[in-house]
Amino acid sequence: MKVDTNCPTEVPIWARHDAVRRRYVREMFAKIAPRYDLLNSILSLQLHHRWRRTVVRMLHLAPDSRVLDLCTGTGDLAIELARHLGPAGEVFALDFCEPMLQQGRAKAHRRGLNHTFWLQADALQLPFTDAQFDAVTIAFGLRNLIDKPAAFREIYRVLRSGGTVAVLELTRPRRAPFSWLYDLYALHILPRIGKRLSDADAYLYLPMSIRHYEAREVIADYMQQAGFQEVHYRDLTFGVVCVHMGVKP
Ligand SMILES: C[S@@+](CC[C@H](N)C(=O)[O-])C[C@H]1O[C@@H](n2cnc3c(N)ncnc32)[C@H](O)[C@@H]1O
Repeated sequence: MKVDTNCPTEVPIWARHDAVRRRYVREMFAKIAPRYDLLNSILSLQLHHRWRRTVVRMLHLAPDSRVLDLCTGTGDLAIELARHLGPAGEVFALDFCEPMLQQGRAKAHRRGLNHTFWLQADALQLPFTDAQFDAVTIAFGLRNLIDKPAAFREIYRVLRSGGTVAVLELTRPRRAPFSWLYDLYALHILPRIGKRLSDADAYLYLPMSIRHYEAREVIADYMQQAGFQEVHYRDLTFGVVCVHMGVKP
């Protein structure tokens, strides 16, 4: 299979106007929403649950915390947070793609998690006043945001002093042989599975978006520039994912 780094459009999606990229991403997630969870489980060999639980543990949240999960998609991290906090806490789950939110809402409802609130909005223009949240999380979403420094400024704005941001994102392992194995998997096996079970374009976009994701140090730099302190990051599973964290002073 030929993997086209230019994505499935004539002009590479990365080189397109912001509004076009934004619409492309939203429509792509709308298309794959019904099978998103299934593909997540297959493609990550079920590891995505463990990665989310690790992030929740790393946050050290008090039971009455108010947490915002950005780019929540089908809500697996929001649901994990809500379970962890229990009914004393509040979890706001935000995404700009309604079909993804619908899946999340239904799952939370089935699990009786009535302290989750689902909102359709853009992560770059949050519909909240300043200093509302004890923590803001974003799992596998930052990669898709067009202006990451602006995203961190928005996150900083809505966090309370002492609040924490946690970013979980897919990354390319830095060391061989993991990086070689990863390339084989991400560029050749993953798109085939995606095409067979869901949508070919979306699962070509996925490895390309990981390739275009900034280096770990650059993401940490964006966080510091937004004002975060105690910025640090930690690779999980040989660097297939990375968690960035920071605290608002
Ligand atoms: C790969 S999914 C991640 C979903 C979920 N957080 C998870 O852990 O599986 C990325 C999500 O980001 C959302 N997204 C992308 N850009 C966004 C934006 N500017 N504002 C809000 N949501 C956005 C997409 O709609 C999609 O649901």
